[in-house]
Amino acid sequence: MLITPRRDNLNKIVILNPKGGCGKSTLATNLAASYARRGPTPAIMDYDPQGSTTGWLERRPDDLPNIHGIAAYKKSMQATRSWQLRVPNDTVNLLVDSPASVDHNDLRELTRDSTSILVPVLPSSMDIHAASRCIADLLLVAKVDRRDRKLAVVANRTRKNTKSFAKLMRFLDSLGIPIIAVLRDSQNFVHAAEKGVGLCDMQPSRVRQDVEEIEKIVSWLDAWPERRRSSKSVTSINKQTTRRSILRRPSFGSA
Ligand SMILES: Nc1ncnc2c1ncn2[C@@H]1O[C@H](COP(=O)(O)OP(=O)(O)O)[C@@H](O)[C@H]1O
Ligand SMILES: [Mg+2]
Repeated sequence: MLITPRRDNLNKIVILNPKGGCGKSTLATNLAASYARRGPTPAIMDYDPQGSTTGWLERRPDDLPNIHGIAAYKKSMQATRSWQLRVPNDTVNLLVDSPASVDHNDLRELTRDSTSILVPVLPSSMDIHAASRCIADLLLVAKVDRRDRKLAVVANRTRKNTKSFAKLMRFLDSLGIPIIAVLRDSQNFVHAAEKGVGLCDMQPSRVRQDVEEIEKIVSWLDAWPERRRSSKSVTSINKQTTRRSILRRPSFGSA
């Protein structure tokens, strides 16, 4: 059973999709690097036993802005669990990187008190199917309410004009879930991961296009207080619409 922190005004951003390799750690590290550059020091909570985010932090050069790392997947014998998972009091932005397999209880725990949930999706039809299952679980099992507008998709390693991308767009549109950024397939992400840096820490002329997309995600994340306020004022959406539109999933063609 996973345990995640609770605190008022903690911007808890959860990145999840049970599909391995879809870009969860890539998103977590790049968003953390952007927040670190802007300040105050963000935190990353790494729940994936593969420890990719923790490894990335260990490789991070000392002269770059600090990021607080919490290796939540490790079970320490020396410390209590709550001490081990402690988020520093001055942390404003917390990124939660999740593992490949998450059962229903863990899904509920991971998303509890989250301000934003990001689902990275690769463009293949298999990945889009997996993502639609993940979104269905978020809405029906974790009871994420679409009216809260906390759920968004990031299309990763994507070419916009493919058939499967168009179908993903239509499916998400019918649920009212936005695709807030489209990250291209670029070696910049691979180099950044190897060096323990974010794209925002790399030479601007090389990464401008990719950084612009990351910044779109940051802007959407930053708007969580407004999203929360406006969600409280929307009352007329029928919850049954969610259930019906999810159960009537589209059949995705090949990319
Ligand atoms: N947009 C991208 N372009 C190129 N390579 C990418 C991109 N996003 C992720 N990768 C690479 O794909 C692999 C899997 O990404 P990762 O973020 O570790 O996925 P996950 O955490 O979901 O398992 C990594 O080697 C990563 O560097
Ligand atoms: Mg990962």
